[in-house]
Amino acid sequence: MFTLFALALLMFNANFPAQASSKPNVVFVLADDLGFADIGYNGGGGQIKTPVLDKLASEGVTLDNYYVQPLCTPSRSALLAGRLPIHTGLQHLALLPAAPYGMPLELPTLPEKLKEAGYDTHMLGKWHLGMYKKEYLPVNRGFDTFYGYYQGMEDYFNHRLCARFPHSYCGLDLHNGTTKDIGKNNTYSAHVFTEEAMRLIQLQSKKSSPMFMYLAYQNVHQPQQVPAQYENQYESIENEQRRILAGQVSVLDEAISNVTEALKEAGMWDNTIFIFSSDNGGNSQALGGVGCNYPLRGNKGTLFEGGIRVAGFVSGPLVEKQEKRNKEWIHISDWYPTILGLAGVSTENLTLDGYDQWAAITGTGHSPRKELLHNYDPLMPSYGFRRRNSPFDNRQQAALRVGDYKIITGIPLADGWYKPVTSKYVVQETSSYDEAVDKISSLNDGSFLQNIFLFNITADPYERNDLSEERPEVVDIMLSKLAKYAQGAVPPLNPANQLKEADPSKHGDSWEPWQ
Ligand SMILES: *[C@@H]1O[C@H](CO)[C@@H](O)[C@H](O)[C@H]1NC(C)=O
Ligand SMILES: *[C@@H]1O[C@H](CO)[C@@H](O)[C@H](O)[C@H]1NC(C)=O
Ligand SMILES: *[C@@H]1O[C@H](CO)[C@@H](O)[C@H](O)[C@H]1NC(C)=O
Ligand SMILES: *[C@@H]1O[C@H](CO)[C@@H](O)[C@H](O)[C@H]1NC(C)=O
Repeated sequence: MFTLFALALLMFNANFPAQASSKPNVVFVLADDLGFADIGYNGGGGQIKTPVLDKLASEGVTLDNYYVQPLCTPSRSALLAGRLPIHTGLQHLALLPAAPYGMPLELPTLPEKLKEAGYDTHMLGKWHLGMYKKEYLPVNRGFDTFYGYYQGMEDYFNHRLCARFPHSYCGLDLHNGTTKDIGKNNTYSAHVFTEEAMRLIQLQSKKSSPMFMYLAYQNVHQPQQVPAQYENQYESIENEQRRILAGQVSVLDEAISNVTEALKEAGMWDNTIFIFSSDNGGNSQALGGVGCNYPLRGNKGTLFEGGIRVAGFVSGPLVEKQEKRNKEWIHISDWYPTILGLAGVSTENLTLDGYDQWAAITGTGHSPRKELLHNYDPLMPSYGFRRRNSPFDNRQQAALRVGDYKIITGIPLADGWYKPVTSKYVVQETSSYDEAVDKISSLNDGSFLQNIFLFNITADPYERNDLSEERPEVVDIMLSKLAKYAQGAVPPLNPANQLKEADPSKHGDSWEPWQ
């Protein structure tokens, strides 16, 4: 009965595209490197306040069992392609500025599918899914409009990125569509993106078509920069870098206030689904940052929970408030089919790794998820000994969750529990992910190094109790499953950098496609 009715609805929609405006607007806000603890409703590390985000979350559904990938490019690709990075070649680290690759062009993107359903699609902020050829740019991947930057990070005020190769290659990275915008020097990026988002909302309100807006703010990725008035709200935080990060979170909170107010003024809010997510865990002192994922273990870039379990929520008048926090198991790749479901687009002929989670989110059903490959990265340095008879090379970096259990193999990287930094902490200019990898791989001298961890995440969400010795039979099952995922993985793309060709000085002092 229900199926017939649903089918009738689908046919109705197909026959009468003019009905499109009854489809919901979707505004998706992606914060960059926001630590699990660094949002008010998760404690703010005892320091950070986000009244606007907290209120939106409490009026809607806070996702308490929500996972992403450990780094920017992989997470963003999982969102916009609905596929795990092992299936797209984006499983190894994040895109470097002069790397000639991107999210593979044959993948149909979320905004492309939404356009088929009559949506206008807007993107603001950080892309980080490839730019070496113009085909990879957001306006050629399904976005009607783009205003933002192509690369992974830059200066928040002058919008320049200096990539440290052997030499420094510097250039502007701020684009309106595909045109560089030299007019925003000294304007903080969150203010530019928010104002542009509000302008687009105004224009959209005059149209009958629904809107998908992907707002990928720069905050709170390094470098730690913020206008003084935001930092000054946090005088009690003694560490300057941490104080700035807190201010960066507050700008984000204010930005969301402005965007939601603009949606209300435009008469669009009542028909808007608002989704908030971080792209990966915070970068803590473990790898030269001042973010905080505590009490979760690990850091951005690691496969401990602190790298991959983040703040996320869904809000707006179309979403009924839930009394308790939502515990359903959701992954960032689930948004693709979930949002298409809301837009009435069939996913029948698409190959996807995610699930439509709308029923699980709204409390009328449960997540179908039984397992989740957090990542498998064969290019990370091999670490420790191979376990006897193991079907999977456990020296390689991987993590897999099956039900309550999670296995982590290979190089563990930052494996501690990192509280907010204290007054004495000084950011080391040179400390970086690569250096941490070098340092830890240099330990690889033939002595025993632990390269298998097993946790019961349900009972032990902070990964304090390693069960790998106690439960070898579970380890074996998990390793066999990892072997299957490894067989089904495509090789990482990661071609060699093209420094000379990418050099912004050859492209009008701007980061531009070079092929
Ligand atoms: C981007 O370009 C459009 C016109 O093409 C213009 O109206 C808009 O103001 C520009 N956005 C920004 C932030 O400068
Ligand atoms: C941006 O503004 C700063 C400070 O006013 C100035 O030093 C710098 O040269 C400007 N950069 C560009 C590219 O105009
Ligand atoms: C939000 O709007 C207020 C009032 O117009 C403005 O002063 C503020 O700079 C805006 N904040 C952001 C982050 O855009
Ligand atoms: C899926 O593919 C089949 C076979 O090509 C086709 O008949 C069907 O209409 C497609 N479904 C959708 C929703 O496009």
